[in-house]
Amino acid sequence: MSTFQAPKGTYDLIPPESAKYLAVREAIAAPLRNSGYGYIETPGFENVELFARGVGESTDIVTKEMYAFETKGGDQLALRPEGTASVLRAALEANLHKLGNLPVKLWYSGSYYRYERPQKGRYRHFSQVGAEAIGAEDPALDAELIILADQAYRSLGLRNFRILLNSLGDKECRPVYREALQNFLRGLDLDEETLRRADINPLRVLDDKRPDVQKQLTDAPLLRDYLCDACKAYHEEVRELITAAGVSFEDDPKLVRGLDYYTRTTFEFVHDGLGSQSAVGGGGRYDGLSEMIGGPALPSVGWALGVDRTVLALEAEGVELELPASTSVFAVPLGDEARRVLFTKVTELRKLGIAADFSYGSKGLKGAMKSANRSGARYTIVAGERDLAEGVVQLKDMESGDQRAVGVNEIVAELESKLG
Ligand code: HAM
Repeated sequence: MSTFQAPKGTYDLIPPESAKYLAVREAIAAPLRNSGYGYIETPGFENVELFARGVGESTDIVTKEMYAFETKGGDQLALRPEGTASVLRAALEANLHKLGNLPVKLWYSGSYYRYERPQKGRYRHFSQVGAEAIGAEDPALDAELIILADQAYRSLGLRNFRILLNSLGDKECRPVYREALQNFLRGLDLDEETLRRADINPLRVLDDKRPDVQKQLTDAPLLRDYLCDACKAYHEEVRELITAAGVSFEDDPKLVRGLDYYTRTTFEFVHDGLGSQSAVGGGGRYDGLSEMIGGPALPSVGWALGVDRTVLALEAEGVELELPASTSVFAVPLGDEARRVLFTKVTELRKLGIAADFSYGSKGLKGAMKSANRSGARYTIVAGERDLAEGVVQLKDMESGDQRAVGVNEIVAELESKLG
């Protein structure tokens, strides 16, 4: 292993590609900011209990993928594998739910950690932008979140994604279904581990990707046929609101999620250009999570979109984001006097909000012009002793190649009017 290699399952974001990640985060956040969601940031680690109870003791995320550790002080912590439990914990700690303003709507952006088998689109360190609406049971809220995610993806120019929608029922109808499914699964030819899973968490078996298992599941009972009237009506309302917003989706009665806290509405955004790691985002309602972690009843709903997979999806579709040039003006001084003058000009430009950079070190003209080219700057200002003696600098338009002299005292105003 080379000394400089990032740990397995991780990668660095470096310019210029890193600009895409910033743009994706920004594009996902924009519709949320515009819809009453406030920004929240929580620690990168939590007490391991929070995830064990919240995400679910029998989920892969908790049993196999969690970076759990004991601190020197003896605390049992885990790097966060997801954001929902943390955000709910933080809202409860700050008593946000008691301020008489429900739902509490929050959005977040950050790094998450899962000890998974790395492959394209599946990393041990990845990043999500997420949203949670805490403390209200209202189908319009579920619809709002799905519509906002759709809007975010469309604003990025993504087209080939699909929204899969399902209802997982509630504490009334799910247990009845669970038993029916268990009875069905017990009659199948399954290996030990899968049978054990059928005992603890039978819905997860529906998500088994192996073809021989899938074949046996063709006639499995579907939760759809077991939903109680309240869940049915709720789901129908969500479907109608999304449809009315012009957002298309597919009903997927077999959609189950890898986290245990979901109730009623669940959904996944999948992209067909991504191979096996096709889920670019997912979420749903989690009406029981607050009680699972020791809080009051707070019906809630949310989602998280994976930034890494969204970037891969954009690449798969060949979408080029319109990224603002990072540098508009590049200054190339020739000689000490010019360095002082142009450095001052660059500082003035930056104060005006114009992205400007400077040729540092002792490059010759040729090397400095190479840097100017590489910076993507629209204009370069070049100045040598003779220019300054005449009170001018050379302004070069990097697109047309035209160059002309502009007065030292006029150059900032000139560039401001050109670029402003
Ligand atoms: P999740 O489906 O586990 O849901 O993750 C959401 C998204 O994060 C996935 O669709 C995927 O894009 C990305 N993701 C997950 N694991 C990886 C990985 N190993 N490598 C790269 N990307 C990954 C949640 O995390 C829930 N907290 C979502 C939610 C919010 N539900 C309610 N509120």
